[in-house]
Amino acid sequence: MRRTLLLIFLVQLVRYITAEQSYVVSNEKLEPFEGDSETLVLFDTLKTIGRERALNGSFKFLGEMNNDDFKVSVELYSSPNGDGDFKRMVMDVPQTSICECFKKFYVQFVQPSLKQGETTNFPIVDEDTCPIPEGEYYIKNVLFNTEDWPQQVPRGIVKAIITFWSGGKNVGGLIVVVKIEDRQS
Ligand SMILES: *[C@@H]1O[C@H](CO)[C@@H](O)[C@H](O)[C@H]1NC(C)=O
Repeated sequence: MRRTLLLIFLVQLVRYITAEQSYVVSNEKLEPFEGDSETLVLFDTLKTIGRERALNGSFKFLGEMNNDDFKVSVELYSSPNGDGDFKRMVMDVPQTSICECFKKFYVQFVQPSLKQGETTNFPIVDEDTCPIPEGEYYIKNVLFNTEDWPQQVPRGIVKAIITFWSGGKNVGGLIVVVKIEDRQS
């Protein structure tokens, strides 16, 4: 018993030191959607590929996305048993200026998974990045690096509905569904 506890403690310690999360995130589904009257963000060629369901493909931003006009919102839903019974989570992101949104969320949740010039040609986002540049960008075979993700995340299926807004109108977005499981030690 004491040995088991010691072992668990050591595993946790190693995780802490190596910043390894206690959970594993895998991509379940990517579902792009169109805007109400026009679509300025296109994710329809982004797919999950292979047994590991890595992200691969490209996405397009049409038009410079500046802080005055463009906003992003994120709605989060969780299905703890993974049975499709989704409940709204409290950690939603209300409509937020696009540059703020990228600096806060893209930098924490997505950017650590990418290597500029290698797995993506999307420019590195930092404090001064604004507007988010228009263009077509590739993502090559990318798995989520969760190092900078929060330690506490719900297990089960989590669905994020990421909507882009311009002039108050929905201009398209992406639904991302991921599975979050305890890491097997
Ligand atoms: C991965 O995406 C690239 C475009 O960025 C595409 O050319 C390639 O065919 C994709 N690979 C697979 C296996 O879908």
